[in-house]
Amino acid sequence: MHHPDHHSFSRFMRILAFLIGVAVAPLALAASGEPPAPVSSAEALTPALTGQQVYNNVCIACHYPPGVGGAPALGDTDAWTPRIAQGMDTLIDHVLNGFTGGTGVMPKKGERLDLSDEEIIKAVEYMVEQVDQ
Ligand code: HEC
Repeated sequence: MHHPDHHSFSRFMRILAFLIGVAVAPLALAASGEPPAPVSSAEALTPALTGQQVYNNVCIACHYPPGVGGAPALGDTDAWTPRIAQGMDTLIDHVLNGFTGGTGVMPKKGERLDLSDEEIIKAVEYMVEQVDQ
């Protein structure tokens, strides 16, 4: 008995395709580019994540309160106020290019180099919006 390595993955994909197909086949095909937005397909790298989605998938690993490795926690006014005072351009530069500051290391794009600059910028904006100023 020999099974190719990708057997169970491709079976998973076929089941997934089948379920999506049953639900929305003609519409989904017609509107290609508009994914049916399955919330749980964690592996899917859709091209246009919102800032909140990027945060929830990537940045949360370090920025979820109370913050890991010196990362300012989401919504922590004291941690964010002096950072925001640097200006958005500086914050965005630090996230896109990586930054070592007084509390730790912010890795370039949160180590998700596959994400676009635009998606990362939206995540920075999302995080800044969560701070009461
Ligand atoms: C591996 C942990 C880690 C991940 C993942 C991570 N960060 Fe950070 N981030 C940090 C740390 C640590 C700092 C604080 C660095 C310092 O000031 O010393 C930081 C700082 C920042 C700052 C403030 C920069 C400044 O100039 O003060 C922003 C904005 C930021 N992160 C956004 C993000 C975004 C957006 C993501 C997701 C795309 C993300 N981070 C993912 C660890 C992380």
